[in-house]
Amino acid sequence: MSASTSLAPDWLLPPADANALAEGVWPASADRDDDGVLWIAGVSASELRHEFGTPLYVVDEDEVREHARRTLAAFRSAVEPHGVQARVYYAGKAFLCSEVVRWVTDEGLALDVCSGGELAVALAAGADPGRLGFHGNNKSVVELENAVAVGIGSIVIDSAVELDRLASIVERAGATQAVLVRVNSGVHAETHDFLATAHEDQKFGFTLAEAPAIVARIRQTPGLIFTGLHCHIGSQIFGTAGFQESAARLVELHAALLEGGGIPVLNLGGGFGIAYTSVDDPTPIEELAAGMVAAVSSECEARGIPMPNLAFEPGRAIVGQAGVTLYEVGTTKPVEVDGGGQRLYVSVDGGMSDNARPALYGADFSARIASRFSAADPALVRVVGKHCESGDIVVDAEYLPGDVVPGDLLAVPATGAYCFSLANNYNYVPRPPVVAVRDGSARVIVRGVSIDDLLARDAGLDATEGADMPVPSERSESK
Ligand code: LLP
Repeated sequence: MSASTSLAPDWLLPPADANALAEGVWPASADRDDDGVLWIAGVSASELRHEFGTPLYVVDEDEVREHARRTLAAFRSAVEPHGVQARVYYAGKAFLCSEVVRWVTDEGLALDVCSGGELAVALAAGADPGRLGFHGNNKSVVELENAVAVGIGSIVIDSAVELDRLASIVERAGATQAVLVRVNSGVHAETHDFLATAHEDQKFGFTLAEAPAIVARIRQTPGLIFTGLHCHIGSQIFGTAGFQESAARLVELHAALLEGGGIPVLNLGGGFGIAYTSVDDPTPIEELAAGMVAAVSSECEARGIPMPNLAFEPGRAIVGQAGVTLYEVGTTKPVEVDGGGQRLYVSVDGGMSDNARPALYGADFSARIASRFSAADPALVRVVGKHCESGDIVVDAEYLPGDVVPGDLLAVPATGAYCFSLANNYNYVPRPPVVAVRDGSARVIVRGVSIDDLLARDAGLDATEGADMPVPSERSESK
């Protein structure tokens, strides 16, 4: 073992081939040609770099569609023997733009939005308002008024204040609105494990104990129709145990509430984990669906109550694996580390502005050189961005061919979820466009944010000479 190996986290082993694309992490269409150039959906990474520059978010449309189809099919076939319906809402917060709305709704998914902005995107893309759910712990009066006015399918009530707010909105509008109540089951996902607590210290929803009084108030409110309970236990969860425990608790509450009238739906949220690295082993969606539905059905049977229709809200599991971010390597630097060992820092032309997940959550990613094969021995690297912050890490630990050099194209897979949506312009670094690839062609589905765009927001530059100064492009385009 070389000295650098000891700096690797326990889970990361030197690969037999540092060019290999790990299965389940990349889009199914990802492959290399004879020169080692990465191709996604029939489009080469070199061509993408040439046409659109770097950094670049690439999303494989068919991969998104396939995950949407497979997820819907999994839940539908799991509920089918029970004679109830399953609805899958795509959680738009993972990655929302008009094209993604069209792809997932085309494939039969409903859509969950959690702000007026997300609602606007969904509606602008032509989504059926009746198939939208509206979440959020602080929906404003205006957001709620708009949602009611467009005929949104359901609003998930998150607080007593919101209930009062919505009651007066429907009264003023003379509208009728279906609502769910967000319940905090006390089962809370913590990394790849789950914790169960009676009083979770967080902002979302009502405790199991508070919910009955809220539901009773809704049932007494003209214009509001209580359609069910909602619960979301967290994100990037592996295994079915946490979901099953939470479902069991929800069914107990659901059963108790049946005394006050029928309840058509139980929404068990999203949070299904995906693979970011070769060691991640997410539960197949079919297994997850079967496990969650079995938990509900056995609890319902034990309580002698009818099974409700079920709803689910995956975001990451639909889009995560479809996204690959392309960067260009700008500098490399071997760094001697205290305590021995050397780490090769590989700096790319993006960073925490296009992928905030490592900085925010300590999230792990993986990477590969996308412009060539290399037979060089694997070296432990840390891929970092160009921001003025040492926590600006893209891939904390990875083995890349040791001859990685400036000018290499680097691809980071599994960036389809919560990368574009969490993007920012820290250090006035431009924001990459999103390019969709399918059947050998590529098209921009979201334009980037350029330095000109950023300067245009600066009111202090209005009508000053500085506003006319030429601005260098910071994106490496048209190589
Ligand atoms: N439903 C509700 C009510 C949610 O709050 C969320 C995610 C989802 C569904 C979708 O969860 P998913 O299936 O995508 O895990 N930015 C973080 C994740 C935040 C998740 C917030 N809520 C990350 O990058 O890991």
